[in-house]
Amino acid sequence: MTVPNTSEKKPFLYVVVCACGIAGNVGKLITAAQERQWDVGLVTTPQGLGFLDTQAIEAQTGYPIRSAWRTPGEARPLPPADAITVAPATFNTVNKWAAGISDTLALGILCEAYGMDIPTAVQPYVNSAQAAHPAYRRSLDQLREMGVVIGSYEPHKPKAGGGADRFRWEEALELLEAKVS
Ligand SMILES: Cc1cc2nc3c(=O)[nH]c(=O)nc-3n(C[C@H](O)[C@H](O)[C@H](O)COP(=O)(O)O)c2cc1C
Repeated sequence: MTVPNTSEKKPFLYVVVCACGIAGNVGKLITAAQERQWDVGLVTTPQGLGFLDTQAIEAQTGYPIRSAWRTPGEARPLPPADAITVAPATFNTVNKWAAGISDTLALGILCEAYGMDIPTAVQPYVNSAQAAHPAYRRSLDQLREMGVVIGSYEPHKPKAGGGADRFRWEEALELLEAKVS
């Protein structure tokens, strides 16, 4: 019988969560990632914080949730990321990220990830009115050009309650695993 090497360091995944109605279900992604042998740390936008059960997530990951920059003397709360997924991603954060705006910690991490060659995936959760905006299409093109892999969720109708049942939380893991060996 082979004894599993439990001391082997697992790859570390940052899950970046934005302020979407379905953000509260991110525990599904954390569970799926842990089952696939990732260690997970959660970063949220300040707006996203209000959508999350922070105690439950911190218990699940074993790490503090990050939503703001640390003070200069403070130790880094999370290990460095081997990969990043943004799920769910808002219209707002997708556009700001593509434009290089870094006014939240989440955006700061995402903007730097490109220059650090960290494999990154994004699963936008937007409605068709948001998706029709020319800036959004340009943003996705820009992110693709930067090597970001983009989820397949088809935008839901505006004011129609969304498509939470169609949002495949584990898709980002499938997309990233091809890039992280
Ligand atoms: C209940 C609720 C649900 C929302 N759902 C979405 C959503 O699914 N997608 C989206 O792009 N914005 C959604 N928004 C709007 C964002 O929360 C808003 O644009 C916010 O500024 C995004 O901030 P962030 O990108 O920093 O997380 C929602 C807002 C509320 C109050």
